[in-house]
Amino acid sequence: MVETITIRRPDDWHVHLRDGDMLRDCVAYTARQFARAIVMPNLTPPVIDTQSAIAYRDRIMAAVPAGMAFTPLMTCYLTDNTDADDLARGKAQGVFTAAKLYPANATTNSAHGVTDMARLDPVFARMQSDGIILCIHGEVTEGEIDIFDREAEFIERHLRGIVSRFPELKIVFEHITTSDAVEFVEAAGDNVAATITPQHLHINRNAMLVGGMQPHAYCLPVAKREAHRLALRKAAVSGSTKFFLGTDSAPHTREAKESACGCAGIFNAPYALESYLAVFEEEGALDKFEGFASLHGPAFYGLPVNQERITLTRNGVDVPQMLQAAGSDIVPFHAGQRLDWTLTL
Ligand code: NCD
Ligand code: ZN
Repeated sequence: MVETITIRRPDDWHVHLRDGDMLRDCVAYTARQFARAIVMPNLTPPVIDTQSAIAYRDRIMAAVPAGMAFTPLMTCYLTDNTDADDLARGKAQGVFTAAKLYPANATTNSAHGVTDMARLDPVFARMQSDGIILCIHGEVTEGEIDIFDREAEFIERHLRGIVSRFPELKIVFEHITTSDAVEFVEAAGDNVAATITPQHLHINRNAMLVGGMQPHAYCLPVAKREAHRLALRKAAVSGSTKFFLGTDSAPHTREAKESACGCAGIFNAPYALESYLAVFEEEGALDKFEGFASLHGPAFYGLPVNQERITLTRNGVDVPQMLQAAGSDIVPFHAGQRLDWTLTL
């Protein structure tokens, strides 16, 4: 039995680091595991231009504990009024790595998101010509579309069109949750890839709704049927360079989750690698872990792989029921469970 695994230090290609006290108390969980992370811009107000991204990056760096090496890769929140010149300047200055498309009201802090996809074509054209990656939260928001169908519907209503109108635009279909998304990404060209979260590899929609409502299993896009989870697992461990790690770790206080209107988001940063590795082991694919965690993402983003190595050992870890952040309790993914692997520093 394999007892230790050493791989290049991974990166997290989708994370919510938040701001203020939550940022201060959560950033080290990500910095401990990952060398770099694509930082989501859905603050209030969102990060919509180069200037606010520089300021946010400074706040992140100030919050990283001394002695930890961590590079936040910033994203620009696209709106109906995004200034393509500013975005291109931000990219040229090394501020922006990608831009994030949230359909308006699809998820937490997305009220400023895009209401009319077609209006963004000039921005997509500029992103294509300037090599700016487009990260997409792929869910439609129309009230008549069932929440479990919103990702698949987004592919048909929007994504196919964007991909065919901008064949050179690099697109990351973020936190995919369906076999429809897996099939779409597999069939698309090399310019289309996807991130997969730990929770969507571990849970199906029962986790939210069986035995009482389980707010800590609620995130967006919501977990789907078991058949979709199995398709995601197959894609993640396939060795295909189109699929890579993006935790979508999205901390909310316990009160904000356990509420009459509980927030979407799962806080998986503390044990993200341990969580992913459990999946690769269960699937008999330990040899595919490094590609998913540390190689495919940099290759897609056109960035160098990390030189440093990390080691995980089969010591196991008991995930606490609760952690503390922003003066409150916060419940991590896998709370109260034992995971077989531990990141040893
Ligand atoms: C994210 C958040 O809380 O910011 N929530 C989530 O459920 N994933 C937003 C998002 O990525 O959809
Ligand atoms: Zn997210």
